[in-house]
Amino acid sequence: MTGIKIAGTGSYLPEFELTNELLETIVETNDEWITSRTGIKSRRTADGETNLFMSTASCKSAIENAGIDKKDIAAVICATFTNDYYTPSVACLLQRDLGLNEGTLAFDLNAACSGFLYGMHTAYSLLRNTPDKYALVVGTDLVSNVLDYTDRSTCILFGDGSGAAVIGLDKDSPYYFTPGSIGNDTSLYCPSNVTPNNPFRKNKRKSSAPFIFMEGSEVFKFAVESIKKCISQTLAAAGVAIGEIDHFVLHQANGRIIATAAKRLGAPIEKFFMNIGKYGNTSAASIPIALAEMNQNGMFRRGDKVVACAFGGGLTYGASYFTF
Ligand code: UT7
Repeated sequence: MTGIKIAGTGSYLPEFELTNELLETIVETNDEWITSRTGIKSRRTADGETNLFMSTASCKSAIENAGIDKKDIAAVICATFTNDYYTPSVACLLQRDLGLNEGTLAFDLNAACSGFLYGMHTAYSLLRNTPDKYALVVGTDLVSNVLDYTDRSTCILFGDGSGAAVIGLDKDSPYYFTPGSIGNDTSLYCPSNVTPNNPFRKNKRKSSAPFIFMEGSEVFKFAVESIKKCISQTLAAAGVAIGEIDHFVLHQANGRIIATAAKRLGAPIEKFFMNIGKYGNTSAASIPIALAEMNQNGMFRRGDKVVACAFGGGLTYGASYFTF
């Protein structure tokens, strides 16, 4: 079949390390609670970097890693829910800052933490019309912009970062994807922060603080159920057994979610990559950051079988199967 190949990967993490110990100084929490409930020890938070700055850095590094000519990039798809502007999109500004062709199809996509996998699937669909070209898929989020640092149930979880991958089609590689969308604006949401200035508007909407709100235990249950469901469906479609998979790259939301998923799938935990301890939950960036780190550390051999799986706001989820 014609599937996808990841030609190159890159990432950017802000320098500032926000440790559990530092969080202890601003909310009632402690390292023991955070570590045992989530596996997170530290996370990076932007100190002046914009979403575009982080994305430009991760994309430059992915293009360099792929060793391709920028002229061969036909699409830039940026998965984010924390754009610097309502418009322009991060992707469009990446066209400018990376010096890409004007003919590049550049747009942002919002599927929260599942965004990178939704972006990869969109890239796959688009590239089928231009099979000799590449797509740049970016997962990037500046979650610290929308965190309430007085809410200990969320501010300890998230970090900032950006990851990118250059994706091409390959006629001898597999690619399968199972998406899921369940509309829900009560378990996990982040209201937009617009104060309308329209003098003719008589019916004012109640405005809420522009911060992430999450019913953690509900989302935990949704996560473990959807991971099992969509990975099983994807592998059944591909005709590949769980035991054949070399690497499971799951959205880094909680180490306990990953451990539970491994158990339910009957796969050894050693095959599940984890870097949540140092970066926390970086939303749409977590999977491409993981791919870049694994690639940089030489963890992939050509042809390795990979399952990537994400879940998050929307609610959205998805699992893809491809070879590296
Ligand atoms: O990327 C998007 C997808 N997101 C996720 O997948 C996240 C899924 N959810 C989770 O990872 C977990 O539900 C959390 C890590 C968010 C929370 O863990 P939990 O085991 O579900 O804890 P909980 O929310 O049930 O809270 C247990 C207790 C509560 O106290 P009481 O009511 O039992 O007295 C909380 O108030 O822990 C308390 N608590 C804290 N204590 C110390 C909540 N946050 C903290 C904290 N430090 N930071």
